[in-house]
Order: sequence, then C-alpha cells, then structure tokens
Amino acid sequence: MQKTVERVDPAFRADVLNGLAEPIPAIPARWFYDRRGSELFDDITRLPSYYPTRTETALLQARASDIADRVGRGGALVEFGSGSSTKTPIVLDALRPAAYVPIDISGDYLRDSAAALAADFPQIDVIPVEADFTKPMALPDKVRGMGRVGFFPGSTIGNFVPRSATDLLRHFRTVLGTGSKLLIGMDRVKPVDRLIAAYDDPEGVTAEFNRNLLRRINRELDGDIPVEAFDHEARWNDMLGRIEMHLVANRDVAFRVEERRFRFAKGASIHTENSHKYGPRGARLLLLAGGWTPLAEWTDANEDFALILAEAQPDRFAP
Ligand code: TRP
Repeated sequence: MQKTVERVDPAFRADVLNGLAEPIPAIPARWFYDRRGSELFDDITRLPSYYPTRTETALLQARASDIADRVGRGGALVEFGSGSSTKTPIVLDALRPAAYVPIDISGDYLRDSAAALAADFPQIDVIPVEADFTKPMALPDKVRGMGRVGFFPGSTIGNFVPRSATDLLRHFRTVLGTGSKLLIGMDRVKPVDRLIAAYDDPEGVTAEFNRNLLRRINRELDGDIPVEAFDHEARWNDMLGRIEMHLVANRDVAFRVEERRFRFAKGASIHTENSHKYGPRGARLLLLAGGWTPLAEWTDANEDFALILAEAQPDRFAP
C-alpha cells in the first residue's frame, strides 16, 4: 500500500525481496530486532536452555578485576550493538572508563538503556550513538584523545560468516584505531544436543523470535505470509561449525510481499540466522585474521564460553 511505502527502511525491503527470491532463500538476521524482536531476544537470554548469556555474565562478574587489570582503567569503552546493555554495568564497575559509547541500530532501546546507565554511573560520560555498527562511522569528538576499548559481547561475532566476521573485526580496528583493545565474547563448540537446545527451547520463545520476522514483513512490507505455515528449526551445520536457524514451510504455501509473489513447497526453508561456534585456536585465528592480536583469554569452568582480550597492534613486518 502506498501509505506504508515512505516509512519502510529501503534496505529492509531490498533484503527481504531479494532474499526470498534467492535459490537458497535467506534474510539477514539484523532485521529480527524491531521492538518486539528485541524484547523476545531479551526473553531468550533468560531461558534455562540458553546458556551463553548467563555464562558470559557470570564470567565477566567473576573475572572483572582481572579483566580490568589487563584492559587498563580510564579511557573510552565502546560497545558495538549494545542492545539493552545488561552486561555493561559489570564492565563499567570494573573498568571505570571516563566515557561509555554504546552503539546500536535500535534507537528507542539505546536511549532508554543509555539514560539508565548515565543515572547509575554519574562519573562516566555516556554518549549513545544510533548507528549500524557494521557501517563506517566516526567516534564522538569527546573520545578522540582517549585510550579506547571495544566491547563486543554475546558471541555476536558468531552471527557473521567468517569472511564478514574478519571484515567486521578490521572495521572495528579502523573505528577504534591502532593501540586500542577489544574485549570479545565467543561461544565455544560443544555437544550438538546442548547447542540445539539453546536455539530451540521447549518454551518456544526462539521459535516466536524467528517467526516475528515474518510478522514484521507482513506489517512493514504489506505482506500476507501465513506465519503458522512456517516452523522454526535449529540445525547444526558441522562442516561450517555453526547453528543455523530456519523457517521451514510445513505445507505448500504461496504469499505476497508488496507486489511480489512467492511460493514455498512443503519442506523449503528461509534461512534466518547463523551462530558460528569456535574452538580456542579457531577463535584466536579469526581475531588475528581480523587484525587483532590476542592478549588474554578467560573461560568458565565448563569451557562453554570464552572472553578474549585482543589488541590492534601497529602494522609491522615481524618474524
Ligand atoms: N549472538 C547470540 C547467539 O548467536 C545471540 C543471538 C543472535 C541469538 N541471534 C539469535 C540467539 C537468535 C538466539 C536466536 O547465540
């Protein structure tokens, strides 16, 4: 309908219309996070079977002063994709940075959590930036002269295929600059049943999160996708070392998005998310390939999740 056209993000429209027409239909995961999607994601992080958030948070808590010793206190902490910033207070408490720069694409969410943090940490200059952290950007003027530490928790790096993950790490290096540090969370490879359970909970929250993408398409792109015709599925792709989320047609289905018509045969899928899991060597190699030299690593007793501190060292021809 004409009335919806101006409000819609043209990148969302392009990604959906092109993605659904691909030989292997896929929609980039960043479109999960409308208001409802962000709330559902917060619910996921509290599910008993979803171990990563709990594990990473406990790890940050247990090792905070250790981490602060290695990172250095003061300076500017820059969080990429801060969301609701639930892990941030732990890090702010330990690092006591002069400035905190949360960067997120979801503006409402960003402003709410930035305001709450500013109230809790009056001595820290909280400077929210509403932006897509994958795109070129300049840091706020105020933090130019400060030492900089990037914070990229949640194993979000795993949501990028390795080629894009290295591009993103190099981009962080450009944004933060030589000499800066990066504290990054990465989920580890582990038995498949635990991985599947984390992405296909018995409560059905992840299924609802996945299907919410279809509801968003229907609402914002004037679609008529029968949402109940798609089942949530989490698959382990062993060759590529990743969990994949799919929406699988449970019957032959035809629908329309704006003026375009699509058909999915029963069993056909829309690929909506990847979550790559890394072993210790793979994680460090990914960082190195992205221009970051690992300095220190912390894991929980089970070795389910790793926090790695890396540094953007100057380019050099080293033996
Ligand atoms: N990066 C986290 C992970 O891969 C969070 C996440 C992103 C997620 N998309 C998701 C969790 C979809 C569950 C479902 O686990």
